[in-house]
Amino acid sequence: MTVDQPRIAPHTVAQRIIVPLDLPSAQAALDLVDAIPQVSFWKLGLELFVSAGPGLIQDLKARQKRIFLDLKFHDIPNTMAGACAAAASYGVDLLTVHTAAGKEALVAAQTAAIAGAEAAGVAPPVVLGVTLLTSIAPQSLAAELRIPLKAADYALQMALLAQDSGLTGIVCSPQEVTQLRRFLPANFVLVCPGVRPVGASSQDQRRTLTPIQALQAGATYLVIGRPITAAPDPAAAFQRICEECSAAIAP
Ligand code: C5P
Repeated sequence: MTVDQPRIAPHTVAQRIIVPLDLPSAQAALDLVDAIPQVSFWKLGLELFVSAGPGLIQDLKARQKRIFLDLKFHDIPNTMAGACAAAASYGVDLLTVHTAAGKEALVAAQTAAIAGAEAAGVAPPVVLGVTLLTSIAPQSLAAELRIPLKAADYALQMALLAQDSGLTGIVCSPQEVTQLRRFLPANFVLVCPGVRPVGASSQDQRRTLTPIQALQAGATYLVIGRPITAAPDPAAAFQRICEECSAAIAP
């Protein structure tokens, strides 16, 4: 792979399921990784990155894992650029930034991610824009953030801003995928949390779709946590989801 090529599209359903490491320590995270060797793609979020540090990225890479570094950067362009260059130098596959940082910051983030990866001799990550946090209730958008749009319309506008700024993907609700696909190119990367297999508890997730529905709607990657990690046999739960999806989705 040359350093200026984007990370390749996934091929199998198993490669399209990202499992979050929602755990407080590196040891707990690595125990989970080793308990489900079939999982090839892991999400490292803010809590674990702050507690465990970037060394965990090397531990995951030593195990040949792909990495979604979900730190949701939101800052001035110069700082976004520095953070994205450093994150990209680790050789991660996906990286998140808030679209609300604005176009100048998004352009700086994308440019710096490519430059940071190139300087380190690794492939650049797909920089994903976070459109709207799902924790923001529809009424808070108007009352607190003073944004006079429906949540779905705001998410679409921010997705288009991400694309216009040179980003090649976003994080979105599976419920938004069908509408977003009408406006975004087929190779634009859509990463969806809020996915629940049939029969699984929705827990604190709202507006979920099943893995098959989300993939059929056009999601590129699914982030599925507790239905796998909290299952009595996590490896079997992951395998079951892959088999169900593989039967319904052409690779
Ligand atoms: O266990 P569960 O499948 O709900 O985990 C979903 C993961 O995706 C968690 O790490 C959560 O923080 C993350 N996430 C989310 N909704 C977003 C963005 C990220 O659930 N809008």
